[in-house]
This record gives sequence, C-alpha cells and structure tokens, in this order.
Amino acid sequence: MDADARSDGTMWDRRFGEAIYAYGKEPNAWLKQQIEPPIDYGNNLALFPADGEGRNAVWAASLGWNAEVFDLSSEGNKKCQQLAKERGVIVKYEIADLVEKAFDEPKYNLLACSWFHTPSAIRKKHLPRMLHCLTPGGSFIMEGYHTSQMPLTSGGPKSLELLFDLDELLEELCGPLAPNMKVVHASVDSTNLDESELHRGHARVVRLHLIRDV
Ligand SMILES: C[S@@+](CC[C@H](N)C(=O)[O-])C[C@H]1O[C@@H](n2cnc3c(N)ncnc32)[C@H](O)[C@@H]1O
Repeated sequence: MDADARSDGTMWDRRFGEAIYAYGKEPNAWLKQQIEPPIDYGNNLALFPADGEGRNAVWAASLGWNAEVFDLSSEGNKKCQQLAKERGVIVKYEIADLVEKAFDEPKYNLLACSWFHTPSAIRKKHLPRMLHCLTPGGSFIMEGYHTSQMPLTSGGPKSLELLFDLDELLEELCGPLAPNMKVVHASVDSTNLDESELHRGHARVVRLHLIRDV
C-alpha cells in the first residue's frame, strides 16, 4: 500500500455504531500502568491517536490531562463524548487520518495509543513523523499486537503486515524520520487480555515507552 493512501473509517463506524463499547470503557492496562497524572508540565496536553471510542483519553482526562483524540471514526467520537459526559470530563476529538494530519508543532507532553495497527508502508512513514508533536521530555506510550499473535484468538488483525515486530518498530521510531527518542521500555510480552469480548485471553503484545530527548 502507498504510504500516503487514505484509510477508510467505514468499518470502524460500523463497529463503534453498536451500543456496546467495542474495547470496554476502561483504559488499556499498559497505558494505565505507564501514564501518571500530569505534575509540572505547562499545558498538560496529551494526544491519543486512534483512540476509537475514547476510553484512554477519557481516563487520562480524569487524571487531569487536557486530552485530545484524533481518529477516523465519527461514531467513535459520539461514543467518546458519551463516555466523557458520564465521567464528567472534556475530551477534544478530531476526525482525522494519520497520513493527512500535521504534527509539526511540538506541543504534547504525552502521546499514547493502543492497538493502532496500520499497513506497514503507512506505519513506517507516519508513526515516526507523528512523534514530532511531542515536547522534549514528553512520553510516547503504546501497546499493539506482536507478529506472534497471528495464530491466537484474542484479537488483532490477521495480517503479518499489520502486526508489530519489535526490532523493526524501534528502528522506525528511533530512526531518521523521528525526533531523537530514548527507549525507557521496549518489550514483547505474553499477557492475558480482559478488555472486551474482542480482546480477551492469552495474547502476544509489543509494549513501548519512549521519551523525546531534550
Ligand atoms: C482496534 S481500534 C483501537 C481503538 C482504541 N485505541 C482502543 O484501544 O480502544 C483501532 C482504531 O484505529 C483507528 N484508525 C485506524 N487507522 C487510522 C488512521 N489512518 N488514522 C486515524 N485513525 C485510524 C480506527 O478508526 C480505530 O478507532
């Protein structure tokens, strides 16, 4: 696939158009473990790329972050606003495609995503580019399915092209298209997911915590 090809949000709109929250209402466990309340950042801005129904952004907003989301899905936005209302917080949600979004301004102290799988050509070019919107010292935290998830039934895309290989991912995120990034944590783990019917059971995941160098 062309690295600048637009993605189609129709499938996600269908999934998020259901009454149930596809991945639950609680935050992803790895993000929850890694994200702390903002303490001494100027604007406390946090961006949640591809946050779907907004569960991670809503939770971070409840910790005191000024949480923003970008995602393809307008149905995701509706669910996010519903959850934010339930929890008494505000989340700014932009309907946008990773390949078209500008990331030139380094204004986010935190960038965090779960299960943001894109075709490899898009990932290689646009995930490192996305890191430029982090402030120096800001964190990038993510969890995604590892290539060894292929035979397992606990969720994720059934295509090697969309799954993460840790070495390849680190090369991309610490490579020439990215700002200077320091690795705080990078692992391939076996875990027991319990997010929803779609993400339940034994899974193989990649977990990252990187920091933009000053
Ligand atoms: C598996 S869902 C994960 C949702 C959310 N991160 C969570 O863990 O609950 C993947 C999300 O990625 C979004 N997505 C996929 N490709 C995208 C792109 N190119 N730009 C923006 N969002 C995208 C989809 O709309 C969907 O919300």
